[in-house]
Amino acid sequence: MNIENVFKNNQAWINEKLAKDPDYFTNLAKGQSPEILYIGCSDSRVTAEDIIGAQPGEVFVHRNIANLVNNVDLNVMSVLNYAVRHLKVNHVVVCGHYYCGGVKAAMQPVDLGILNPWLRNIRDVFRLHQDSLMAIADEDARYNRLIELNVIEQCTNLIKTAAVQEAYKLRGLKVHGWVFDIHTGKLVDLNIDFEGILKKIMEIYELK
Ligand code: CO
Repeated sequence: MNIENVFKNNQAWINEKLAKDPDYFTNLAKGQSPEILYIGCSDSRVTAEDIIGAQPGEVFVHRNIANLVNNVDLNVMSVLNYAVRHLKVNHVVVCGHYYCGGVKAAMQPVDLGILNPWLRNIRDVFRLHQDSLMAIADEDARYNRLIELNVIEQCTNLIKTAAVQEAYKLRGLKVHGWVFDIHTGKLVDLNIDFEGILKKIMEIYELK
């Protein structure tokens, strides 16, 4: 990707859209009502819309290092509240990916400066599942499993929020955990037990 080409590419994209539908941008400007909020990793290889075939207007997107949902991160919490309470999305997705550099970094005993508090969230996921992770002898398999567990934990963090609990009661909103496999291009549904997790954590986190 050469930065010199950006505006040329943009014009080609405009031409392509207008060739199919002369009113494309007029309609796009009218507003958005996406069905899905997608929370994924900033990794340049995991382009949210491309991998799921989404068009402009269809998915509300938030990306950060290692797809974390931290309840004191004003950024992700604002995105969540806006998407769920105002745009009224019906699905919230956390999409992690194998070969995630953020998760890899969290597995190294290294001081990474400002990244320390961010990666601490992943180290906490490791600690929560320390026994089962340490029982995996193969390092790549352990790395992959931590990536999956991190997705499940971030889904759980979503379910702890008032916005998600309220939207579930009002209109049956669902939370999904996916992993993108860069090696094959495949998107894997971790099939998290949304209602089971919700029921279990409501004993502690129920917000009325
Ligand atoms: Co990543």
